[in-house]
Amino acid sequence: MQDQYILHSAEAQNITLPFACRHGCCTSCAVRVKSGELRQPQALGISAELKAQGYALLCVGFPTSDLEVETQDEDEVYWLQFGRYFARGPIERDVYSLELPIGDE
Ligand code: FES
Repeated sequence: MQDQYILHSAEAQNITLPFACRHGCCTSCAVRVKSGELRQPQALGISAELKAQGYALLCVGFPTSDLEVETQDEDEVYWLQFGRYFARGPIERDVYSLELPIGDE
């Protein structure tokens, strides 16, 4: 059904697929499209670049043709999407102290 999210359609057919947020943000439901087409205007969790490479989010994807997709390792897609932001090594932390008076002291 072209008006139903692919994840919902799969669930209605008792097909178990990975998911978490169900809002197109986390990449848990990411797949790679092997054939066919879909539209995913609410897929905020993957960049236009990843979409162009064939990645899609089933929780916010609508089929526009017959589809063959391959589930992905969530960590792989997450790294492709967000790794550039976290690949700079550990964050240096400044040390702050804060004193809070208790009661009438
Ligand atoms: S379940 Fe989070 S992006 Fe699809």
